[in-house]
Amino acid sequence: MSESPSVKSKGKSKRKIITIEDLPGVGVSTAAKLRAQGYTSIEYIAITPPEQLSQDTGIGKATAEKIVKAAREAIGSFLKFERGDEIFKRYVSSPRLTSGCRALDDILGGGFESRAITEIFGPYGSGKTQICHQLAVTVQLPREEGGLEGACLYIDTENSFRPQRIKLIAERFGIDPNEALHNVIRGAAFNSHHQMLLIREARKFIKDENIKLIIVDSLTSNFRSEYVGRETLAVRQQLLNVHMHDLLRLSLAFDLVVVVTNQVMARPDAVFMFEPTIHVGGHIVAHTSTTRISLRSSRDNIRVARVVASPHLPIREAVFKITERGIEDVEEA
Ligand SMILES: Nc1ncnc2c1ncn2[C@@H]1O[C@H](COP(=O)(O)OP(=O)(O)O)[C@@H](O)[C@H]1O
Ligand SMILES: [Mg+2]
Repeated sequence: MSESPSVKSKGKSKRKIITIEDLPGVGVSTAAKLRAQGYTSIEYIAITPPEQLSQDTGIGKATAEKIVKAAREAIGSFLKFERGDEIFKRYVSSPRLTSGCRALDDILGGGFESRAITEIFGPYGSGKTQICHQLAVTVQLPREEGGLEGACLYIDTENSFRPQRIKLIAERFGIDPNEALHNVIRGAAFNSHHQMLLIREARKFIKDENIKLIIVDSLTSNFRSEYVGRETLAVRQQLLNVHMHDLLRLSLAFDLVVVVTNQVMARPDAVFMFEPTIHVGGHIVAHTSTTRISLRSSRDNIRVARVVASPHLPIREAVFKITERGIEDVEEA
């Protein structure tokens, strides 16, 4: 990265910035305010809008601006242009999370991407929640087995989190069921405001708890039930936009895999079978998600996943089945 054609930052201070106390203008009391609000890493501060830092911590706007600017300069990549080969190197070396289902991993180019948001959408019963439960377990697997050796933060908005599912899936992957449950931190979100707050709070413990995966199941249900009617659409989309960007920031700052679900209605007048659903989350969600997977039911417990939008993957389909043991490849006995 040292070779990249960076825009010269003035670099008044040659002092190396490692902890938040090293940031200019950050003394003991400011550092305490930052830490109390979970701003413990330079990376996270660097990608926080100064206004938000000021709002969250009570630090004055001018100081907040100075702090964020210094953090950005310290991590180096903000005012910098990068060559494609460097980005590619980072991309191929950034770990992927296995779904425990080969066909699904394949259409995702080797698993769920970290430093990105993957959206799973589909009608009721199509398997969104089952995939989420499975990922909450596979994230705990060793790296050699496609896991991230980390814990899962599970934001549950429809009260569909089931510990017994985690236990069963854990047994299949050879993880102690109780240990697996211990490594899933569930936050129940009662309404959209609460949901957004949970994600804002998460930065305070992501590092300490070794969180490597955030699930929001479902991303949209609270918003949809609270903002009904055309006149509320703009506000809803605006809030969803903020929420998605909060998630994206966490994902980038902490190298997380983020998976959100979105229930869509089956389109009754489905003429075009390749897109038989209406995407209710709207363009905001679609545009902020890096990769989008649609699910549909086939016969019995068979489901079809389709990568419908990705910056680098072709449109492809995978077939899997939902069983007692989670989601599995069809050919597995
Ligand atoms: N223990 C289990 N064994 C087998 N199938 C299950 C089990 N639990 C749930 N399922 C199946 O999973 C499907 C529901 O998937 P789910 O992920 O909850 O859908 P949604 O997309 O609405 O979140 C149902 O078809 C249900 O039969
Ligand atoms: Mg569900």
